[in-house]
Amino acid sequence: MNTSKNFFFFSEIISNLERTLAEGRKASNVDIQVMFQCISRCRFLVQQLIKKEGDQFYKNIVLQLEETLATQINILQAKIEQLNGKKIQVTQGSIKPWKRILLYGPPGTGKSRLAQAVSSEIKSTFYCVSSSDLVSSWVGESEKLIKELFQHATKQTGRSVVFIDEIDSICRQRSSREEEYTRRIKTELLKQMEGADTADSSDQIFLLCATNCPWELDSAFLRRFQKRIFIPLPDKEARIDLMKIHTKDNKVVMSDEDWSVLGAQTEGYSGSDLANLTLESLFCPIRELQTSKEWKQKDDQFVPCKDGEEADVKATIVEIPAHKVRPREVTLNDFLSALKTHRKTVTQDEIQKFENFTKSMGEQG
Ligand SMILES: Nc1ncnc2c1ncn2[C@@H]1O[C@H](COP(=O)(O)OP(=O)(O)OP(=O)(O)O)[C@@H](O)[C@H]1O
Ligand SMILES: [Mg+2]
Repeated sequence: MNTSKNFFFFSEIISNLERTLAEGRKASNVDIQVMFQCISRCRFLVQQLIKKEGDQFYKNIVLQLEETLATQINILQAKIEQLNGKKIQVTQGSIKPWKRILLYGPPGTGKSRLAQAVSSEIKSTFYCVSSSDLVSSWVGESEKLIKELFQHATKQTGRSVVFIDEIDSICRQRSSREEEYTRRIKTELLKQMEGADTADSSDQIFLLCATNCPWELDSAFLRRFQKRIFIPLPDKEARIDLMKIHTKDNKVVMSDEDWSVLGAQTEGYSGSDLANLTLESLFCPIRELQTSKEWKQKDDQFVPCKDGEEADVKATIVEIPAHKVRPREVTLNDFLSALKTHRKTVTQDEIQKFENFTKSMGEQG
């Protein structure tokens, strides 16, 4: 093979490899990533060498290149075979993935949101039910619903995820005084949770439950959850991030320092408290529009005057064309005044209860 043919040959191989790899490229696959780098390096070398034909140094490098490519091709072929057919056997014997997980934490920390996010990310069938969907006022109907839910999930091809929200309302501790029919609902659910463990096909059900009072759950239910994960209140960083997410489409003028002050002031606020607080703050400038009598004109639009600012126009909002009215930007002061009316909803006592429960039964999320 002469030199230019040689180059052509290498370039062809490299482009073929790149095409194949681009199809199966995954950030998580380290081997493939490394190979990508090797191939790009080879391509670069080939391009460099095209310019230096006839050089002894060049000939040596082409030989090395040939060797490198040959090994890379072998590895690549093996890898592609592995990816296409044989799955890597990670779990063997009695090692099995977790199948029943309980999410617990103070109200408004995003437990239900988390499950919704899971449902949109995974490809498996996702059943999202609330306890109220499972409890019927007809005697015997609830047990049937629970049984049907699990049977339906078992019949699906592939794995299915069953998410039961507010599980505490059906799994409260059993007592001798309670009605016979509520005991039967619990027994059915216990049976299905356990049954889903033994039958071969029900290996496919992944049960996810959420509650905000885990200490009220019957111990038989608690035992069946292999993992009990605590979803805590957001910390300072998370609170700032959450508020930034909620305000990303609005005009907010706040420095990093302002955010940090706000982050510190919202200690103990849950995700849902923060959502409400942000909404209230975003409304402040809009509410001001109604009372403002002095306006500053900016690019043919009217913005209410700030304190001490000289007015361009004196008018009430009804006198200005609606499409020309523009609220001012949201500032730290709006958040601070909203803080006075929007207090945190989770009390210290509740947090203590969760901490005690986590110490004895759960684990940090
Ligand atoms: N991590 C989060 N990211 C974004 N928004 C959040 C987050 N956590 C809570 N929220 C906000 O709080 C609202 C309520 O969240 P969600 O219903 O998931 O809470 P929960 O933990 O299920 O509460 P509960 O225990 O009372 O059912 C959401 O609609 C969302 O606006
Ligand atoms: Mg919820």
